[in-house]
Amino acid sequence: MKELTDLTELKDLTELNVLALSGSLRRNSYNTALLHAARKLTPVGLAIELDHELGGLPLYNQDLDGDTPPESVTALRRRVADADALLIATPEHNASVPAALKSAVDWISTAPQQPLRGKPVAVVGASPGQFGTVRAQLALRQILASVGADAVSKPDVTVFHCDTRFSDDGVLTDTYTIDLLRGLLDALLIKARAAQ
Ligand code: FNR
Repeated sequence: MKELTDLTELKDLTELNVLALSGSLRRNSYNTALLHAARKLTPVGLAIELDHELGGLPLYNQDLDGDTPPESVTALRRRVADADALLIATPEHNASVPAALKSAVDWISTAPQQPLRGKPVAVVGASPGQFGTVRAQLALRQILASVGADAVSKPDVTVFHCDTRFSDDGVLTDTYTIDLLRGLLDALLIKARAAQ
């Protein structure tokens, strides 16, 4: 099999679609802003669509998780299944993944068709603190591994002191972070192509 490492060739193929999930429900979220930045930096060959529906999901409840789960859950599972890859931005809440994101992953993970199994996923995160969501990202990677998703390992995009890296209107201005994001999206493209 031909090795899928030549980005120039990969970018000539059909466009792959990436579903971007933000673990923050906050209106002026840095993590959602990071996804908007990624969207603008998307390499040829990828299209990123932001999902704005996580806040509409109920908290995971096994009593609701039967043959007819809530419509919002079914719709999310479908969007994930239809995506060629995921890009997840996680804030860090008390050194871990925020409840809304964990709950969403739990809902997706119990879908009969297992849409996360083998799914290429890139993880990013932003925090005003000095660790830049390192702990939340580690926790998220552990969760993703347990459901069989295929996470991109490098580069790490842990945006520490994120309040200094965006303009007042939420545009990513930090060139170091922009370069990291570009590198991650290229790595996601390679992984998603290989998974086809
Ligand atoms: C936080 N925050 C935070 N930050 C961090 O770096 N490590 C942490 O453990 C926590 N813990 C934490 C718990 C709770 C309940 C809240 C509300 C916040 C701060 C957090 O990084 C900050 O609010 C970010 O701005 C959240 O991301 P968004 O919403 O801007 O994307």
